[in-house]
This record gives sequence, structure tokens and C-alpha cells, in this order.
Amino acid sequence: MCGIVGYLGKREAFPILIKGLRRLEYRGYDSAGVALINEAGGLNVYKTKGKVDNLVEYTSDKDKTGTIGIAHTRWATHGEPSAVNAHPHYSQSHNLAIIHNGIIENYADLKGKLIEKGVEFKSDTDTEVVVQLVEYIMNKKQLDLLTAVQVALYQVIGAYAIAIIDKRDPLQIIAARKQSPLVVGIGDGEFFLGSDASPIIEYTDKVVYLEDGNIAVLRLDKNRSENSGMELKVVSILGEEQELTVKKVDIDLGQIEKGGYPHFMLKEIFEQPECLTNCMRGRINVEADHVTLSALIDYRRQLLSAKRVLIVACGTSWHAGLIGKQLIESFCRIPVEVEYASEFRYRNPVVTKDDVVIAISQSGETADTLAAIQLAKERGAFIYGICNAIGSSIPRATDTGTYIHVGPEIGVASTKAFTGQVTVLTMFALALAEAKGTMARDEYIKVVKGLSEVPELIREVLKSNEKVADLARTFTYAHNFLYLGRGFSYPVALEGALKLKEISYIHAEGYPAAEMKHGPIALIDSDMPVVVIATHNTMYEKVLSNIQEIKARKGRVIALVTKGDDKIAKIADEVIELPDVQECLEPLVATVPLQLLSYYVAVCKGKDVDQPRNLAKSVTVE
Ligand code: AGP
Ligand code: GLU
Repeated sequence: MCGIVGYLGKREAFPILIKGLRRLEYRGYDSAGVALINEAGGLNVYKTKGKVDNLVEYTSDKDKTGTIGIAHTRWATHGEPSAVNAHPHYSQSHNLAIIHNGIIENYADLKGKLIEKGVEFKSDTDTEVVVQLVEYIMNKKQLDLLTAVQVALYQVIGAYAIAIIDKRDPLQIIAARKQSPLVVGIGDGEFFLGSDASPIIEYTDKVVYLEDGNIAVLRLDKNRSENSGMELKVVSILGEEQELTVKKVDIDLGQIEKGGYPHFMLKEIFEQPECLTNCMRGRINVEADHVTLSALIDYRRQLLSAKRVLIVACGTSWHAGLIGKQLIESFCRIPVEVEYASEFRYRNPVVTKDDVVIAISQSGETADTLAAIQLAKERGAFIYGICNAIGSSIPRATDTGTYIHVGPEIGVASTKAFTGQVTVLTMFALALAEAKGTMARDEYIKVVKGLSEVPELIREVLKSNEKVADLARTFTYAHNFLYLGRGFSYPVALEGALKLKEISYIHAEGYPAAEMKHGPIALIDSDMPVVVIATHNTMYEKVLSNIQEIKARKGRVIALVTKGDDKIAKIADEVIELPDVQECLEPLVATVPLQLLSYYVAVCKGKDVDQPRNLAKSVTVE
């Protein structure tokens, strides 16, 4: 969950590390720290509780020189957020410093053994045990840093991306990964390290994605001129040299900056028309009557023979999965089950080689989703991934997949990735239905055409921005919200509620509208805002009755209606109009005003929209 940055080269490391931390701050932000080796060979570690800004302020009068350094922004798992528990952590002698993302599961056992040998610990973290263990092994066995890291990691159980520096060797960073992501950037005479490519792309587009179980040695040899004196070696924990694949990253800086918007979240909401166009580019033809997904061409047999589809995901991606279920079942007539990846992996599920498992993840790094994939693979299922982050762990663990191509999503609350996932799921269901012959030709063409028009419809919805902003001001008093929807709109209600919870800290629940009378109706009084998705679809009349039931109990109704609906306008307190759209495509359009509503409520309440408390963008721990 945390962000890791490293630099080794000829420039001052500190500004590069701080900029990198800011780019990665979305991953975790309860504390931050940096370690630098200066010209005189001193290893300075500075760390503070809170955000990167605090670290910058704290270090204003400190020695920040050095052309080698590592830095970290934390999302605490072991030990409260504090300066002492922040990373980097020194080894006992202060010769080594480490940063770590992940969890060391057997840390208590290792720590106990090291304490018995006289090692003194400073923090409550699981991380410190790794650096102390490395130093202990180095001293006891007289080993070099790389070999000591190998021996130490052999004993470590858990998930990690780590980087270690040694003040006696200021030309080397050692980095390793297991389950947590790590990318090495190769510049001209300089190396970069990052949890993802965002801190690196400003300097180089050449990267190596470190594979699980591998250790990278980043080394500069100032006496060598060939390749600017750079050496990058990758070995396994057992010391076998690994082949290197240098890839080109294709992200430009504008994509990871705010571009004039006050928050990434608002920028990402407004980007959706363009992002979905990118998502469909080359997949829906210009006549808008055909969908092509390369996965379905390359793996036609495996995907067509599926007797059942299992969707595994977490959070917002799970909500996209619920929509995917309805699409695949209605277009392809295959049974679909949607599971929280975190539950699936621990309940001995029935999975066979006749199943296709769809794993959905924006970050491509969610630990629970990765573990669910692993389990399904072991049981012989074919795995199809729907991810955003290019080159992340999930796309690499799946048999095939489709990228959503909506560009980096920085706001912790997922917005454009959700609509991107639903777009890919719609294309997948259409392509599979066509291949299986389960959908009438005219219906297929109607949906493909409708999907291709969604970006335009979202542009129209975004015009209600001001209206939603005004409306949000009226509802900041609320401590609870209810979101109701039916059919395709039920997952939209869940997603609307999650968005509000995440960034405004208002308790909100999503419910199928008809379920209201089986319980939640007891909550309704004149203080309770109820957001109802009440568009012109097959459930319209039923939802209208649900609105009457809420009004009869004095609840305050915010209704999402189809443009021109005057029936609901008469009874609801507020209405937000949506363009007319086919029912199966409605989630793509109806989600957008709910994203705006949560955004503006959070802004009115003065909350940190892009970095809400306790959350992190990539949940790389269980
Ligand atoms: C979305 O707003 C959340 N922050 C969260 O629920 C997220 O969707 C979940 O953690 C899954 O992440 P992933 O898509 O990167 O796997
Ligand atoms: N487990 C470590 C800690 O709590 C690392 C957490 C992280 O990934 O930020 O310090």
C-alpha cells in the first residue's frame, strides 16, 4: 500500500525523491521519510508523521545532500502512524536503511530471535526486523549486502517490496519484491525506483518490472564509462541470475497531474468521456456495429467453452462485477457468480476447469484479488483479467485479459476506472454473445451502437455539475444516506454509497429499492436523504411506488430521472436528469452524478477528497 521511491545517480536525490513521494502519496499517507547518503559517507534518515508536506517542512534546515537515497510514504499495518514507525528504518549500527511495502508475517518470531541475540529494536513495525536481520547475517557470516539480503529473505514469510542502502557503499541500492510491486527506471547514468512508474516517467521511459521473488542490484561504477558506468543485475533469492526485460512506459506527465482541476477526483470524473472513447478505440468499429476483443480471438476456445463465469474483485471493482454478471447472463446465457476476492480465497470454493474466472482490478495489485486468481488457477480455471495499471501484477498473473485504458487513476476514490471496467465488461459480454450466437443480431447492434454513444451522454450528464454542487450543499448536514436502485441500477446504488462513505465519512448504504420495506425503511425520517435511481426502465412504476413510500415517511428524496420526467419531479425533493439510455447501459451514465454528489459533499465538509483518511489506492496487503 505504501509508496517506495529510490534514486542513484549524479543529481541531488532529495528533490527527486520528494517529487516521487508526492506522485505516490495516493498509495498511503500516514507518515513519510527519506534516507540519504551524503558526500562524507553519512547516512541521514529523516521521517515524520503525516503527509509529505510535513516531511519537507521538517527537513528544511537539515542536510539533504546526497546523490543516493530512498524514500517512503506509509500506510501503517504494524505499529501506529508515528515518526518512529515511519520508514526508512536504520539497522542497529545505523549503517543500513530500509524501506518496505507489505507485511512480514513471521516478524514476531524473527524479532524474538534477534532480541535474544542482543539486537535492539526502535519501532513497532514488522519492517525493522528485515533490516536488523540483514545486518545480523552480514556481521555473523561476514557476507556482502546482496548475499545477506538473499539469506534474510529466505527466512522471511510475507509480502514485500523493499529497498536497502548501505552507507559504506554509496553506489548501490538493493531492491527486492514478493507480491508487492516494484519498478526500476533506467536513465542515463542514473537509476530510479518506484512502487509504480509515476515517479520515474519524468526522467526516463525505460523500465524493468521486477518479478516476484527477485532481487535487483542497482549499481554505479564511477570509473567505468561504457553505459555511463551503470550495472543492473537481477537475481533470484537463491542467487540465480535472471534475464532482464526492459520495457517502454507509455504514460505522459499530463496524465498524472491535476491539469487545472482542484482535485484528481474531479479531473478523473470529467475525463470519463475521453477515457471511455480510449477504452473502446480499436475495439468497436467505426460503423459502431461490431466489437472485437483480442482476448476473444486468441483464447476463443477457452472462453467459449466456459460453463460458468466467476467474477472476483474488491470494492468498486466488485460493483463493476455485479453489473458484469447481469450483462453476461442476459447476453450470453451463462451463469455468473460474483465474489469478494477476500472471501473467495478463504472458503474452499468449487472451481473447475470448465470455469472462466474474471478478475477485475484498477490497480492490478490488490492482494486479495491476486490470491483469488492463484487459487482459481490451481483448480484449473481459465483466468481473464480486466485491469487499468499496465504491467501490474494481476495482468501478469492472468491467462489473458483486456486493459481498460483509462489512464492513471490517482484519486483514491475510483471513478473513471469503474466506468472503464463496466465498458470492458459490456464489450466482453457482447463479443462473447456474438461468438456463442446467444443474442439477436438487431439487439446486438443496438447495444454496440448505444455503447459507442455513451461518452457523448456522459458529456451531457456532466453539464449538471453546478446543479449537483448546489444540491450537495443542502445535504452536508446528513449523518446517513440511503441509495436505492433496481436491476442494473442496484450496483450503481452500492457504488454511489461507497463513494460517499469513502470521501465524506457519511454513513451510506446501497439497497435494492424493493428491499427497503424489509428493513431499511425503519431508518427513514425527515432527516434521511434517499438517493433513488428512478429512470424510465422496466422497473419505473415499482420504483415510483418506493419513492411514495419514502415520502409518506417524510424522507428527503434525491431522484435520478430520465430527462422530461415530470411525475417524479412532483414528488421528489430534488431531481437530477439523465439522458435517455438503454437499460443495460444505464450504469455508465447514472454513476456520474453520484460521483459528483459525493465529491461536492466531501468538498463542502472540508474533507481531503483525494486522500481520504485510512484508505490507500492499492491494497497490497490482505
Ligand atoms: C474505490 O473507490 C476504492 N478505493 C476501493 O474499493 C477499490 O475499488 C478496491 O480496493 C479495489 O481496488 P482495485 O480495483 O485496484 O483492485
Ligand atoms: N508493514 C509496514 C508498516 O506497517 C509497511 C506498510 C506499508 O506498506 O506502508 O510499516
